[in-house]
Amino acid sequence: MAQAKFVGIDLGTSTSALAHVRPDGNPEIVPNADGERLTPSVVYFDKFEGIKVVGSAARDGGDPERTVHFIKKHMDDPSFTVEMDDQKWTPTEISAMILSKLKRDCSQIAGDIRDVVITVPANFNELARKATVTAGKLAGLNVTRIVNEPTAAALFYAHTQDISGRVMVYDLGGGTLDITVMEIAGDKVDILLSEGARHLGGSDFDEVLLEILADEYRKKNKAELFLDERQRRRLRALGEEAKKMLSKLQHVSETIGNDTDGIARIELTRDMFETAISRLLTRTVMLVEQALDSLDLTTDDIDHVVLVGGSTRIPKVKELLEKQFGRPPLSCGNVDECVALGAALFAQRARRVSEVCNHSYGTLAIIEDAKTGEAKIRNSIVIPKNTPIPCSMSQTYITSEDNEELIEVEITQGEDLDPRYVDIVGKISLEVPPGRPAGCEVTVTYSYDENQRVRAQVFDAESGLKKDIAIEYRGEGVLTDEDIERKSAYLKQVKIA
Ligand SMILES: Nc1ncnc2c1ncn2[C@@H]1O[C@H](COP(=O)(O)OP(=O)(O)OP(=O)(O)O)[C@@H](O)[C@H]1O
Ligand SMILES: [Mg+2]
Repeated sequence: MAQAKFVGIDLGTSTSALAHVRPDGNPEIVPNADGERLTPSVVYFDKFEGIKVVGSAARDGGDPERTVHFIKKHMDDPSFTVEMDDQKWTPTEISAMILSKLKRDCSQIAGDIRDVVITVPANFNELARKATVTAGKLAGLNVTRIVNEPTAAALFYAHTQDISGRVMVYDLGGGTLDITVMEIAGDKVDILLSEGARHLGGSDFDEVLLEILADEYRKKNKAELFLDERQRRRLRALGEEAKKMLSKLQHVSETIGNDTDGIARIELTRDMFETAISRLLTRTVMLVEQALDSLDLTTDDIDHVVLVGGSTRIPKVKELLEKQFGRPPLSCGNVDECVALGAALFAQRARRVSEVCNHSYGTLAIIEDAKTGEAKIRNSIVIPKNTPIPCSMSQTYITSEDNEELIEVEITQGEDLDPRYVDIVGKISLEVPPGRPAGCEVTVTYSYDENQRVRAQVFDAESGLKKDIAIEYRGEGVLTDEDIERKSAYLKQVKIA
């Protein structure tokens, strides 16, 4: 089979898509074997045949108790597992099943798929990025680059709508909101800032709609709408369909109910829905403001606001942005495909796109308060958030005590000065020769590569000793190279429908 060229995959919270660049230079979505352009990111563990079903059949047909949704929300959790028939599955393995289906299905149309670019939310941490690369490996893919979803989307907009200047990408998907400000000049994209909310998106709106349905049902039938998880999930899917219709219609009526308490006809209006999600929408407005504030910009400094993500089809979302910016945002129409399409373009042009690091990295150091003179342990930032990557930055510290024999550097991730509000993501211990006075210089260097992987080095000037580590995470969900090999072989035998 011929090899597919320039393949991009959007591994989304609710839906995933694969695109490639055609010989004429335009990207296109490759449908799955079910004839769909978007594959629901849902896995169903079939009890009888031992098959893992991925996609629409899993979302709509499977036993809810054996179905896994929204696994992307757990990609950064090293201890999260799904237990099925006494076997534990990590988010990485579940994601690998989704990628396996895309690889297999799309290869039939596009040619053999091996090298791919996979997208992640801009605010995914290193653990989640690494888990994404590993999921690709498990699925037999060679992940050449991980790219931020807004960067990919911006490339697609730049390709199709000829936008340039300072652009804000507003991505409201199934699980996350990402706001990214960038400079676009031709094919060149420079990210200035990426902010986001990890748990704000379409699935939260679905929960709200489900609550409206339950409330209305209670009013009418004086009973609870759903009595178990199975009913709840089915109604949630129905609610999602109603939500989508409300983006087009002002009024939708649903007949719902259960065996015990009968059915009821429920009238839903766009107003009811938009009022119920207004608190969540206010958060989105505030996040836009916050992003602009961090850059010292106002809405007038933004040339274009572009829409990405299925949830930007909600009229109120567009309306609020129009109100905030004084002009309507741009939409490419296929808001839920543009990330995959842009990822394919990225696969073709990776070298011209620059990105920024998503977190600050620092170390704990004793720092004197400028006002009070009091010495306190503080988080001293070595690489600030939003520094263009790849980058390597150093800070030199002075040892505070005589006769230190062990230099311990704790690696922090986070922006706060207060050590209580940052994460310790690694530690380097460097043994140094005895008998040295306080005041020796120790240099800490962090480097951040284009796949957002971080390395840390400590250099002790006095002894000339140094030590270097990759920032790695440990936990049940973090696989070693041997694990990857073993599980990849295993996954090849797992039948994915
Ligand atoms: N017409 C519509 N009106 C309202 N919501 C919609 C519409 N079409 C799709 N959605 C919602 O968009 C969400 C899916 O969007 P998308 O495919 O962009 O997200 P994702 O990429 O899976 O998620 P994320 O980017 O957060 O990882 C779902 O919650 C879906 O219900
Ligand atoms: Mg998305």
